[in-house]
Amino acid sequence: MEGTFILVYYNSMNYSLIHFKEIDSTNNYLKSSYRLLDNFTFASADYQSHGKGRNNRIWNSESGENLLFSFLIKDENLLKESPIISLITAVEIAKIVEIYKIKCVSIKWPNDVLIGDKKVCGILAEGELPNYLVVGIGLNVNQKEFSKDLRRPATSLKNVIKKEIDINQLKEKLFDQLVSNLKNLNKDDSLEYFRNHNYLLNKRVRVVVNNQPFIGEVIGVDENFCLQIVSSDMLLHIDSGEIEIL
Ligand code: BTN
Repeated sequence: MEGTFILVYYNSMNYSLIHFKEIDSTNNYLKSSYRLLDNFTFASADYQSHGKGRNNRIWNSESGENLLFSFLIKDENLLKESPIISLITAVEIAKIVEIYKIKCVSIKWPNDVLIGDKKVCGILAEGELPNYLVVGIGLNVNQKEFSKDLRRPATSLKNVIKKEIDINQLKEKLFDQLVSNLKNLNKDDSLEYFRNHNYLLNKRVRVVVNNQPFIGEVIGVDENFCLQIVSSDMLLHIDSGEIEIL
């Protein structure tokens, strides 16, 4: 395993945290070590040499500027909720972003957190059910410049509030909130928040289901967090996939 290991500790909320100065990917670390680690082990890093995004994309992030972390779920009951864990994680991230009194925070289904039309956070869930799930989060905190070649323009909390943020304080608050809310899952509250922050609502989109493309309008999110699209008088419930806005 490549990487400079710094610290492992258990905190008062009873989760463990492993921090790396540099590692290939915090998702890869938890995936390769899951057998040895406990439920709710967090791995964070200042820098990832091979940060991964969804659909085999690369996730680049300047060293020490952003929050890069993953957490491991092994709890049997929580794993039963695996299809919605990353969406609920997006809800918790969006709530944290709103604490900074930032307006226009939304979630682009399934789990990108946006400020206005710009992406501030991406989430990549990977796993091997029923054994484990790893949820990886890249939250842009203090980075100022982003590549112009991104699929969607990016921003950071600092770019919006015009103030440097203490990453360690943010990290502690976010980890505590994630553990507490995932241990005491309140799906109804999360669903309501998601519905009130649904970036795709009323947008015309294109989606591919079983190799068949559909064009339609997003009308909401159902009780299982599936995206509802009306396409030629059909109501589709989409549980995964890439949504293209037209
Ligand atoms: C996306 O929007 O494409 C998902 C990005 C997920 C990036 C995070 S950064 C921490 C964790 N480790 C990785 O290699 N990827 C995730």
